[in-house]
Amino acid sequence: MSRKIYAAILGAGTVGTGVYKLCQSMKDDVISKTGAELVVKKVLVRNLDKDRDPIDRELLTDNWKDIIEDKDIEIVIELMGGTTPAKQYILEALEAGKQVVTANKDLLAEYGEEVMGMADKMHADLSLRRLLREQFQ
Ligand SMILES: NC(=O)c1ccc[n+]([C@@H]2O[C@H](COP(=O)([O-])OP(=O)(O)OC[C@H]3O[C@@H](n4cnc5c(N)ncnc54)[C@H](OP(=O)(O)O)[C@@H]3O)[C@@H](O)[C@H]2O)c1
Repeated sequence: MSRKIYAAILGAGTVGTGVYKLCQSMKDDVISKTGAELVVKKVLVRNLDKDRDPIDRELLTDNWKDIIEDKDIEIVIELMGGTTPAKQYILEALEAGKQVVTANKDLLAEYGEEVMGMADKMHADLSLRRLLREQFQ
């Protein structure tokens, strides 16, 4: 049986739903390339009542603690947008030793140095990190 890598997606809008679908459709590919199964364990939203098809209702939470306090979750994929509370969640995830992926260009443009500083301190991966670091130097 392959090792499972648990991820959480923050946001189930245009990008969050697309990334969820990709995680599902590329499962076999990921297993054959890495030997590990990528499993989306939680999806953070504001409104639990909205239809999120094809995301399973059981994965949905409106409580950040369900993700940050879950030691099994190794990767946090931030696709909420905005800077509050996205910045806080990214910093907390990095501090907790999780890897972070984000599509949040606004946040990285405004707080890139701080967020990348935390990723460096924790030896964590933050997507776009290398590219953005070049821009800040
Ligand atoms: N759309 C694009 O083409 C595109 C392209 C490149 C990059 N991006 C970036 O990708 C990110 C997401 O964009 P999007 O278009 O997918 O946004 P979106 O459709 O507005 O979706 C945002 C999602 O985040 C959730 N959310 C927002 N604030 C939250 C909070 N405080 N707590 C919990 N959930 C929260 C929303 O929950 P509810 O549904 O419950 O309100 C929604 O599911 C942004 O940073 C954007 O700049 C977008």
